[in-house]
Order: sequence, then C-alpha cells, then structure tokens
Amino acid sequence: MADLHIQINREEGGIAGQIASKLRDSIRGGRLAPGTRLPATRDLALDLQVSRGVVVEAYEQLVAEGFLVSRVGVGTQVTPKNTAGATRRPKAAAPVRARPVRRAPSAPYYGYRPTSPDLGHFPRERWLAAVRHVLTTMPSDALDYGDPGGVSELREELAGYLRRVRAADVRPENLVIVGGVAQGLSLVLHVLSQDRPLRLAVEDPTSHRQVPLLRRAGAHLVPVPVDEEGLDVRRLSGDTVLVTPAHQYPTGVVLSPSRRAALMEWAYAGDRVILEDDYDAEFRFDRDPVGCLQGLAPDRVILSGSVSKALAPGLRLGWVAAPADLAEAIRRARGELDLGSPVIEQYALAHFLRTGGYDRHLRRMRREYRRRRDALVTALAEELPKVQVRGIEAGLHAYLELPEGWDEQEVVRIALSLGVSAEPVGPMRTSPGPPAVVVGFARLPTYKAAEAVRGLKVRMSGQIID
Ligand SMILES: Cc1ncc(COP(=O)(O)O)c(C=O)c1O
Repeated sequence: MADLHIQINREEGGIAGQIASKLRDSIRGGRLAPGTRLPATRDLALDLQVSRGVVVEAYEQLVAEGFLVSRVGVGTQVTPKNTAGATRRPKAAAPVRARPVRRAPSAPYYGYRPTSPDLGHFPRERWLAAVRHVLTTMPSDALDYGDPGGVSELREELAGYLRRVRAADVRPENLVIVGGVAQGLSLVLHVLSQDRPLRLAVEDPTSHRQVPLLRRAGAHLVPVPVDEEGLDVRRLSGDTVLVTPAHQYPTGVVLSPSRRAALMEWAYAGDRVILEDDYDAEFRFDRDPVGCLQGLAPDRVILSGSVSKALAPGLRLGWVAAPADLAEAIRRARGELDLGSPVIEQYALAHFLRTGGYDRHLRRMRREYRRRRDALVTALAEELPKVQVRGIEAGLHAYLELPEGWDEQEVVRIALSLGVSAEPVGPMRTSPGPPAVVVGFARLPTYKAAEAVRGLKVRMSGQIID
C-alpha cells in the first residue's frame, strides 16, 4: 500500500481538490506507478485528519478522469498500464500531406445559439479595466505583428489556469492562441491532413455546426454512436477522433471512466490522435468538472478550448494545447495563413487571468447558470413530466428527450417564439434516435422558466400523449 506523503493547506480550502491534485501530480511524475494500490479512504482520511467523504470525493474525481480505477474487493489503484496510456508516451502522430477541400453545405441558422452565455453579464467594467491597463502599460512595439502562436504572457497565464482548473498537462510551449475552438480545430486538421487523407471519427449526434468546418478542413467524417456513457469507443475506426468528453454535445453526457480508459487504450494501440473539444467544461454544477483527457495523455490528445462560454463568443479567443512539435507546426500554419490573433485582447485576457477576474466571473456565472438550469428542470418536471432532461448538470444547454410522436421542429419553433433558444437534434444525427431538442438556459432568467414551459405545454397540447 503506497504511503502518499500528501501535504494539504487547510487555510486554502478545497481540500478534496488539493488531494486530487497532489495525487494527479504524483501519478504523472511517476512517483505513483501504474497498478499501485492506494490506502483505503478511511485510512487516508485518518492520516490527513480530514473527513472520509473528502477523500472519497478526491478518489472519485481521479477515477472519473481515468487516473485511478476502483474495484470491489481490490480497492483503489493507479490505473494499470494496459488501460491508461498516462505512462506510455510514444511520439506524437506524424503530420502528413494536405487534400483538396470539398464544398460543404452551410449549417442551418436558428437564431442565437443555445450554447451561448448570457452576454448581459459580460464583465464590461472589469474587461475595460484590463484593456485600460494593457493600453497604458504595453510598449508600442507590442502592437506590431505578434507571435502567431500568441503572446507569451497569455500562454504563460493560460498554462497555469489549464493546469489548475482543467488538470491539463501543459506548458506555455504547448499552447497556441487561436480565435476559438472552431479555428483551433480547423488549424489542427489542416496540419494533420497535410500529407494524408484524414478519416476523423466524430460523435453521433454531433454539433451540426462543426460538420462543414471539419469537412472544409479536409476531414472525411466517420460517425460513431454516443450513448449514456458517451462515445462508444468499441465502434471507433480510423486513427483520429474528435470528442467532447466533459459534456458531450448535444446529449450532455460525460464520458464514463471505463470509456475514458478504453479511449486511452485505443489511442495507445496505434499512432492515434484524440481531438478534445473542451467547449464548456468550466460549467459543472453538481461537482468539480472532470479533468480533461489531455491531462491523462498529453502526447496523444490535442485540447481545444476558448473563452466563448465563460466570457463571450465575440471575443474570438481560444487555445490549442498540443505536444510541443505539433504546437509548433500549428503556430507555423497560423503564421502562414493569417499572421495570428489580435494582441490587445490577448494581453487583456492575460491580465484578467492574472488578477483573478476570470475566476471570479466564472464563479459568479456558475452560480447563476445553476439556478437557471434548476428552474428550467423543475418547471419541466412539473408541467411536462414526459419530457426527459438527459445528461449531467453542466454547461449552458439542456438536452430534452421528447415524448414519442412529438415534432422536434415544432417544439423549436414554439420555444423560439417564446424567446427560448432551441435547436432540433435530428439534423445532428446520422442514425435515427428519439425526438429531442437542445434548449439554452443561459439566457433564460429563473423567473421566466415556468412561464416559457407552460407556454410550450399549451401550444403542444395537441401532441401530448398520455
Ligand atoms: C460543441 C461545440 N464546440 C465548439 C464550439 C465553438 O466554440 P468557439 O466559439 O470556441 O469557436 C461550439 C459553439 O457553440 C460548440 O457548441
């Protein structure tokens, strides 16, 4: 049984998070080898003088992330080598040759997106203060063409943030600043498909808005079904996959620990690459968000994230975290394609992160979105109990499975007329599934939820089947 030598800082709070973070670092650093058995939660709680629940929470977090496995009769151990690639780090997939792009159909437009944040809460004053700080302190030369990989101050701050909040395994040299997840994915695919046609496995259902983008970037898409545990890894083919593991879009499920392990196994069974879309992972309401896959296999996973959900999509600011050689190839591609992102916003975001403004804003919005989601879920349970809310308590959208026979398009039309952002799930599927819609709750104030759901109930009354 391993002696863990964990030091915790009681003044800091977040004890479960501290324990999880120390264990994660020990596993990554090799101090806790694959297969090592961890002390029983009761023993570790006694050692650390904390409640057992705190240790259980830390272990559960790492099981969910794939660093630990827990089995009845065996206890908790560091994920053995054959199920997690965390300790096997073969070289990253070699970038290859480009293909001509095909014309892609444009995505349908349904008004503002259900995944957009409440922009009325954009922290204008604090952002203004950050921009003012930047403009009064930055040297004039910093306004020249910047590093196409992003300004170093921002990459430095972001690396710290992603390590702390997303349990990512990144250093500034792994990061490329981009104009959002969309551009990050385009660039990554551009680089990966340079020397060979790229077959890209995508979740089914998947964000229909991303489909044209992915095709335009040269990928041939291969749909792989998603169920209540996330992507069905057994059905994967090809050597590159795009996943939304923290909160699948659109179904809202989280990739289960066993599927995470299976995905790691898949990645290390060949020269394979996982593209991780971490689009809304900061918003988890029932517990800490599951750490990103990239933290488990930084040589196999390319992580894309952005400030679109936390601050505003219009900022067009995001990042890609990739193995250093691939990050360099992406940075070069960015330099050749369009010379990089606007610098003032990059410095402002660095300042916002450094001074704690980003964390404060996230904390505030997390509380608000949680209230809004709860209000919507409660109203649905009371008024339309046959509409099932699926997925975890997270993000800015809810996935609603509709009673058999309901028309998705009709529900969306009614929702939009009631001022609620919604999209049908049908166009996001390649194989049939139950009728379902995605509803955005970020812009639906708590006091309006019940009224909107009642409105939907009245207008759908002809379709309600008892
Ligand atoms: C699943 C998913 N991925 C990526 C994006 C694009 O995000 P970004 O604004 O960072 O390009 C979105 C936008 O709504 C999304 O829903």
